[in-house]
Amino acid sequence: MRESKVKILGTGSSVPERVITNFDLEKMVDTSDEWITTRTGIKQRRIAGEGESTSTFALLAAQRALQAAQVSPEELDLIVVATVTPDMLFPATSCLLQRELKASKAASCDLEAGCTGFVYALSLAEKYLRGGGGEKALVVGAETLSKILDWQDRSTCVLFGDGAGAAVLGLSEEEGILATYLGSDGGGAHLLELPAGCSRMPASLDTVNNRLHYIKMNGNEVFKFAVKIMEEASLEVIKRGNVEIDEVSLFIPHQANIRIINSAAKRLSIPEEKVFVNVHKYGNTSSASIPLALDEACREGKIKRGDLVLLVGFGAGLTWGSALIRW
Ligand code: ACO
Repeated sequence: MRESKVKILGTGSSVPERVITNFDLEKMVDTSDEWITTRTGIKQRRIAGEGESTSTFALLAAQRALQAAQVSPEELDLIVVATVTPDMLFPATSCLLQRELKASKAASCDLEAGCTGFVYALSLAEKYLRGGGGEKALVVGAETLSKILDWQDRSTCVLFGDGAGAAVLGLSEEEGILATYLGSDGGGAHLLELPAGCSRMPASLDTVNNRLHYIKMNGNEVFKFAVKIMEEASLEVIKRGNVEIDEVSLFIPHQANIRIINSAAKRLSIPEEKVFVNVHKYGNTSSASIPLALDEACREGKIKRGDLVLLVGFGAGLTWGSALIRW
């Protein structure tokens, strides 16, 4: 049997129009542009407007990716939306997307792996196609984190933003996704969570009054984990892909914090010019961060045919994942 090969055929992204700068946040909580810039590298973030939800941005990103790939929605066999902020708990946001796209042939489901969601979705969709599940898949990372942020909690509300990124995968003659690596450690589940609103703590007056429908995070512990795992996950996928780290043309890490990105790049000896950064413009957009960065890098001409691209992410769960892509 001929072994199937899978590549990324096109990417797309979308962010809300509304910009909230650090100076805007200074008027909302006890913080400063100086603190946010030096601790995180973030200068501004995009925030969804009235009536906009995760599927709003997922749809635009998906349409742009399909256009770039020159694939029509009817050709899709699978749609996976990675998100921690679905429009509703059910139906899946991917089903809402499938309806809007009129992707009549596609199976659809959501995937929740914190900020690593897109890398998880990419890896699973790639294996689905390789395993004979179909010929084309749409993978989206989309979030409206502004909806689950406590705008009175300065330790979290300054960090996150909204947006979406998407990629269309297809069977191909050339190998595009050389290797992926995924991992998790539920022992760190308590470090980053949204406590209420599901079966353990259903929504009640108490949960609302105690602000339990918002992101709770132990930033310091997540920071330490992130720095270590970004290096480990990158090295593992490099090994699986049978390449050397200095062959990587562009490093696209999860955009959570410039200090995490810089220390990971330093540990891996990846020079600054090979590291893609847009955290200053969007903050941490969780599942959307890596595909949004990937799409910007493509559209800015930073990725050429034949280039080796390394994606690496970490997030709530705890989870982590990496992917090595030949463009
Ligand atoms: N403005 C001003 N001061 C602040 C703010 C703020 N917005 N937030 C916290 N502070 C204060 C704290 O209260 C603390 O004051 P204290 O010393 O008087 O107690 C001081 O600043 C230092 O706080 P630290 O938490 O030690 O600051 P640190 O340098 O560790 O930076 C940060 C905090 C930015 C959150 C960092 O720990 C981080 O980036 N962690 C990783 C977070 C992350 O990546 N999360 C995403 C995970 S992915 C996912 O799935 C969503």
